[in-house]
Amino acid sequence: MYISPANKSKLSKKTNYYQDSDGNKFLIQDGLPNFIYPKELPKSDLESIEWYKNNAADYDEFLPLTFETFGVDEDIERGKMINALKLEKDHKVLEIGCGTGRDSEKIAKELGENGELYLQDISKEILKIGVEKFSKKIFQPKIEFSLANGYYLPFEDNYFDRVFHFGGLNTFGDIKRAFEEMVRVCKPGGRIIVGDENMPIWLRETEFGKVLMNSNPHYKYNLPLEHLPVEARNVKLEWFIGGVFYFISFDVGIGEPKANIDFEIPGVRGGTHRTRYYGHIEGVDQETVELAKKARQKNGKSMHRWLNEAIKNAAIKELEE
Ligand SMILES: C[S@@+](CC[C@H](N)C(=O)[O-])C[C@H]1O[C@@H](n2cnc3c(N)ncnc32)[C@H](O)[C@@H]1O
Repeated sequence: MYISPANKSKLSKKTNYYQDSDGNKFLIQDGLPNFIYPKELPKSDLESIEWYKNNAADYDEFLPLTFETFGVDEDIERGKMINALKLEKDHKVLEIGCGTGRDSEKIAKELGENGELYLQDISKEILKIGVEKFSKKIFQPKIEFSLANGYYLPFEDNYFDRVFHFGGLNTFGDIKRAFEEMVRVCKPGGRIIVGDENMPIWLRETEFGKVLMNSNPHYKYNLPLEHLPVEARNVKLEWFIGGVFYFISFDVGIGEPKANIDFEIPGVRGGTHRTRYYGHIEGVDQETVELAKKARQKNGKSMHRWLNEAIKNAAIKELEE
């Protein structure tokens, strides 16, 4: 079910690589397909890759400190996101930036033998720790690991029921594209959850805010609200883990939300929401406005109806001459 992250074409599988229709090759090393694309990544992604190359081995030892700082239980806090995913046994789930698999194990436990869990990350070093952990445990769903960039996904359109990411979004080189890709691979009616660090704006001038942002500058990142896709429905945002991490959950709709913008709005002005938006033509002078107001008042039509008829009749007459 993998496709090319470069041109979305189907892949042909060779002995130790996949190849797309343009000849792009994606190597399979130590059993892990490497779909990382583009070949030249933005600085923030290169820095992430470098950081995890040097720190992957210590990640699981030091990560619990984040939860201890706020006196909260990691299982309970992560459980809030997993509950919000509303998983069902046969779901196909994608976790982007799964790291060493701390949420992945919780997701895998919720899925049955018809479920599928695709785990991906951009860092080879950290993903290998996840692979190693999973190799020692037995889970019911089919589980596949791959190296890939979270905003160039190597997956077919509409494949997943759930898409999940926690902890890396702030530094993704293209956050808007990441959301577009999540929506592309998720079925309409599916659900997406993303989260990362964020010091709420009302705490940024407090001692709590300043001290924590000094130690971990990632708390300074803004919420990615302007990047949310138009397909996002039932959007919920909450902070957890001491109130300095957020997660956003939403259901995936089709296109823009629908509204009735074509009913006649009662009152003097009249028109519909649509005609008020699209119906602008050149302005007229003040004297004409006053005359039009009087004429409208005389026959009791809304200004929209009167104007529409007056302009239409004048235009038809002109065109007939
Ligand atoms: C803080 S760790 C979180 C790991 C895991 N989700 C967790 O909660 O423990 C951030 C992860 O995002 C990954 N990451 C960073 N940039 C990425 C990108 N562009 N695409 C995919 N993964 C990325 C990192 O390699 C790292 O494993």
